[in-house]
Amino acid sequence: MTEQYILAFETSCDETSVAVLKNGQELLSNVIASQIESHKRFGGVVPEVASRHHVEVITACINEALAEAEITPSDLTAVAVTEGPGLVGALLVGVAAAKAFAWANHLPLVPVNHMAGHLWAARQVKPLDFPLMALLVSGGHTELVYVAAPGDYKIIGETRDDAVGEAYDKVGRVMNLTYPAGKEIDALAHQGQDVFNFPRAMMKHDDPALEFSFSGLKSAFINTVHNAEQKGQTLDKKDLSASFQAAVMDVLMAKTKTALQQFPVKMLVVAGGVAANHGLRERLAAEITDIDVVIPPLRLCGDNAGMIAYASVCEYNQGHLAGLDLNARPSLSF
Ligand code: KG4
Ligand code: ZN
Repeated sequence: MTEQYILAFETSCDETSVAVLKNGQELLSNVIASQIESHKRFGGVVPEVASRHHVEVITACINEALAEAEITPSDLTAVAVTEGPGLVGALLVGVAAAKAFAWANHLPLVPVNHMAGHLWAARQVKPLDFPLMALLVSGGHTELVYVAAPGDYKIIGETRDDAVGEAYDKVGRVMNLTYPAGKEIDALAHQGQDVFNFPRAMMKHDDPALEFSFSGLKSAFINTVHNAEQKGQTLDKKDLSASFQAAVMDVLMAKTKTALQQFPVKMLVVAGGVAANHGLRERLAAEITDIDVVIPPLRLCGDNAGMIAYASVCEYNQGHLAGLDLNARPSLSF
């Protein structure tokens, strides 16, 4: 049998990443060049800065990914790339690099949805079993996705305003934490108590059962901090974090359980940057015991090209290829 090697590119936001996947399961390399230090002082990702950094490092990332995998371009079967969603200028760098590489080496080009990538990172843990339910939680997205079969995705619920990761980062800013704040809030939450009882949105009987909203929680958090400041008080960041995290997790857990009741599936995948959250992982382990819960390892929760490579396998096998006219699709959805 000839081996299958896929070279994958991911540049949708602030990580430049190139990976090599062998035979759909063995990640031989997953080079990630993070730009976070360049964006921190702005309190968020600056699109122009992101694009420029991608251009500067992408060639080195390709060379490193191939060297670490101990292969040459002639060993490759296909090139995969994130086409969207994401920042248009950032996506374009990966798309242009992947097209040039595919053209120069006579390789087929596989376009991949970034959110499908987050989901397929779970393939590193074990083969995915369908139908499955996915809770995808990242800086830009919060969605429940029913996956009837590989490549057959249907969003059954999503946020009406802020994504979970975005809410973490915004309340982090109010506590003067550095961007992105999710990881630090998670750590602080473990040392505090849920004393503020922030609102849990969309949880009433007549609310849409699978929709999310986090902007009210964010506003309640900001108001609580500002009101205290006006009285000359400083609130404990540990308790603020624990209260915020408890409110987020109550909603995520309730909606996920409802989705699992409404749609019988064989597996629950929880993925995206926020799937790194320890509070979420603990609650999933304690409360969802009647179904297989698969969460990618921590290093594959944040943006990386390894997840794009995993997701590209079913697209490649199903013949979903792109031509050299492939463009970035910043608003791509399932
Ligand atoms: O998936 P990702 O790397 O990028 C996007 O596609 O958006 O997700 C990044 C988001 C950030 O908002 C970050 O604060 C959040 O994931 N995050 C966390 C944790 N680690 C990263 N949120 C909560 N708890 C964490 N441990
Ligand atoms: Zn992402």
